[in-house]
Amino acid sequence: TQYQNILLERHGRVAQLTLNRPEALNALNKATMDELVAAATELDPDPEIGAIVITGSAKAFAAGADIKEMAAQDYMEMYAQDWFRNWENLTRLRIPMIAAVSGFALGGGCELAMMCDFIIAGENAKFGQPEINLGVLPGMGGSQRLTRAVGKAKAMDLILTGRFMGAEEAERSGLVARVVPAEEVVAEALKAAEVIASKSKPVTMIAKEAVNAAFEMGLVQGVTYERRLFHSVFATEDQKEGMSAFVEKRTPDFKHR
Ligand code: HXC
Repeated sequence: TQYQNILLERHGRVAQLTLNRPEALNALNKATMDELVAAATELDPDPEIGAIVITGSAKAFAAGADIKEMAAQDYMEMYAQDWFRNWENLTRLRIPMIAAVSGFALGGGCELAMMCDFIIAGENAKFGQPEINLGVLPGMGGSQRLTRAVGKAKAMDLILTGRFMGAEEAERSGLVARVVPAEEVVAEALKAAEVIASKSKPVTMIAKEAVNAAFEMGLVQGVTYERRLFHSVFATEDQKEGMSAFVEKRTPDFKHR
């Protein structure tokens, strides 16, 4: 497939999707998000791909939804076309996804990063939900996912003042999994993705599902759900391979089934 606004590269079992509108700091217009969601959706079941890295440019992961595209919309148009609905499809994918964030991740850019399974940030990363400055509020999960990630105090602070949060504060707050020097962020994310992609794909998908269930279920229900999933992976060839390899003191060779 040919894309206009993103780049798709395959590095072994890892796919890298790069937002590619640097002149607009990767502002997320409809065309860009449609391409990103379509590309990720196609990669999700691809047996040759075990993890996805989503990234932007050195200066901006993404500076938000495209304000110029949105500015003139009225309520009826936003509602009738259900703006941003397609973005949500990213969170329905089962393949592990890492956001590699360098520079600005603002508004919809921060929300996109939070839709990934975890975030690796460069020291120069700046996260924020500055929608309040535009007379609006986060529209693609920011008020919900940021609050779950960093708690009420910081979510309120960021969303009501519109201030940006640096990488160090973001890591300390639990928004970011790792901070690395800015120029290493994509390499670090690719390395992490490669590690994930070397595991059993069905089992990484199931593990992701289990963690995500923590946001939907009570503790007793969640732990029971986890146990059912745990039992179910004994139906995979990869469980047999992983445990045999340990006993035989060798590296497992997962067949991803
Ligand atoms: C459209 C954008 C944009 C955006 C930047 N640009 N962000 N265009 N939508 N979100 C464009 C600028 O207009 C400019 O185009 C070019 O990118 C470079 O940006 P500058 O502002 O000149 O760069 P700089 O001075 O370095 O400032 C960087 C910045 C600033 C601090 C990130 O661009 C900024 O504040 N951007 C908006 C951030 C924001 O409010 N995001 C939330 C958007 S609302 P020209 O043509 O002038 O060169 C949102 C709602 C989410 O995301 C709802 C659900 C998805």
